[in-house]
Amino acid sequence: SLPPTDVSMMTIKDKTFVPFITEEAIQARIQELAEQINQAYADKKPLIVVVLNGAFLFAADLAKHLTISCEITFIRVASYTATESSGQLKEILGLNESIAGRDLIVVEDIVDTGFTLYEVCQQLQEKEPASIAIATLLFKPTALKKQLDLHYVGFEIENRFVLGYGLDYDGLGRNTPNILVLE
Ligand code: XMP
Ligand code: MG
Repeated sequence: SLPPTDVSMMTIKDKTFVPFITEEAIQARIQELAEQINQAYADKKPLIVVVLNGAFLFAADLAKHLTISCEITFIRVASYTATESSGQLKEILGLNESIAGRDLIVVEDIVDTGFTLYEVCQQLQEKEPASIAIATLLFKPTALKKQLDLHYVGFEIENRFVLGYGLDYDGLGRNTPNILVLE
């Protein structure tokens, strides 16, 4: 295989990021997750719902190891402030497929407080899919504030800000093969 091409340091504005999870470790873990999914969905045809933008690289690398028959679609989650209630609600954009009766696998880059995926899953649930599973590359257990069932977790990490391999700081830094952490 190709030699790793990890980025050793990145500075964005006033923030410095240092290596945290190597490309090699990410790719090895993704292969394991794909094998679990291949076994669990051997007799199904799941619809994989990728949450953009952050999950684009994870989803691409995961998909290359899936041997099952599956569809892959992409959504965005937009935040908006409702007039009738306080707080940020989430709107799902881009889901054109009918999901009733389908087995969904939602692919996300990171679960932090869990608010985003909690709302996404609630809205998906209303459309009566057969099942919903979550695959997230990263999970910060100590930051979680919502009850969420995470079926496929790449790495549990401490509550620090991470960047790279799809994740951004202020729109920048998504384009690295490894994951970095705020120094
Ligand atoms: P919640 O709190 O809703 O957050 O689970 C999920 C979304 O917040 C973003 N997020 C991060 N982005 N580094 C990032 O680049 C991080 O450490 C981080 N923590 C949360 C991310 O967009 C995710 O979808
Ligand atoms: Mg995201």
